[in-house]
Amino acid sequence: MSSLGQMVFYSDFDDFNVWKEALQHCLPELEIVHSTAVTHPEKVHYALVWKPPQGFFARFDNLKLVINLGAGVDSLVGRPDLPDLPITRLSDPNMARMMAGYVLFAVLRYAREIPYFEQAQQEPAWSYRHPRSPEDVHVGVLGLGELGAYAATELVRQGFTVHGWSRSQKEIEGVCCSYGTAALPAFLGQCETIVVMLPLTPETRGLLDEHHLNLLPRGANIINVSRGEVIVEDALINALKTGQIGQATLDVFTKEPLPLDSPLWAMQQVLITPHLASVALPLSSSPQIVDNVLRICGGKPVLHQIEVMRGY
Ligand code: NAP
Ligand code: GLV
Repeated sequence: MSSLGQMVFYSDFDDFNVWKEALQHCLPELEIVHSTAVTHPEKVHYALVWKPPQGFFARFDNLKLVINLGAGVDSLVGRPDLPDLPITRLSDPNMARMMAGYVLFAVLRYAREIPYFEQAQQEPAWSYRHPRSPEDVHVGVLGLGELGAYAATELVRQGFTVHGWSRSQKEIEGVCCSYGTAALPAFLGQCETIVVMLPLTPETRGLLDEHHLNLLPRGANIINVSRGEVIVEDALINALKTGQIGQATLDVFTKEPLPLDSPLWAMQQVLITPHLASVALPLSSSPQIVDNVLRICGGKPVLHQIEVMRGY
């Protein structure tokens, strides 16, 4: 038996064996057990989990740390069975880079009018449109955390005029930052493309409703890589129908998988991807998970701890 105690793993999306190998490469003596194979729950000290079922934690009386197998902790923080223990999230620059790649792709696709040329090709038609200078394209990033700040910086590197909005004041080179509810209308009013990178919390749930969507310039583009519930989906659908929102790139939805009867599927101006803008990466994330295990063993505070009351 390992003196460290065991780590229980739960995820319907991630490969247990790949994670086990990556974690044990960093700390060979750490015993990692899939949740379906736990025989001695009292030996489990750490839980590495993505969306575990309700009641999951109840049998682990000696748990010391919950590690969210991802960045967003919304599926953990609201639940009644969450143990009163340190909860950490993944904080991996490679994950931020993968997310920034998706955001760059989506913003560039609109800035370079790729959907227009895709349509022209269908006809087919050689339909020249002179490219715009990137600085003329105003992009707004909502949420300037680990992923949002990285993506905003990459957008600056591409020459876009980048606005950022968060809960508290931020300073990011090249990004015009504002914060708080009072600043939201002015922020929205100047962005032809917005990228939603907020966590889902009681404050952000339904934040982008009909009122706020109407504050965007007519025909604005929306890219949502945070959580579906941050945008009121029916309001978005209506705004897409009226042309208030011109185009949308949606990676996340109120209900996932997106139900087959959702009107979003049939909208030519909507690009749908199945929640994969960025994923947890075993090789680059394992060292920080193991570091936190060792911190718990050494009685030290863990890193990347989330604030349960705040919701992120
Ligand atoms: P983070 O580091 O926790 O940062 C959150 C940012 O949102 C911070 O800048 C925070 O402001 C801001 N914020 C929070 N509440 C706000 C409010 N009420 N008003 C204005 N700003 C607010 O989060 P992250 O790591 O960047 O990740 C963001 C989200 O991306 C995750 O929560 C998750 O939902 C999503 N995600 C999606 C995928 C995917 O594949 N689609 C992958 C990974 C993550 P302060 O800086 O002032 O605190
Ligand atoms: C994925 O959506 C994450 O929050 O890591």
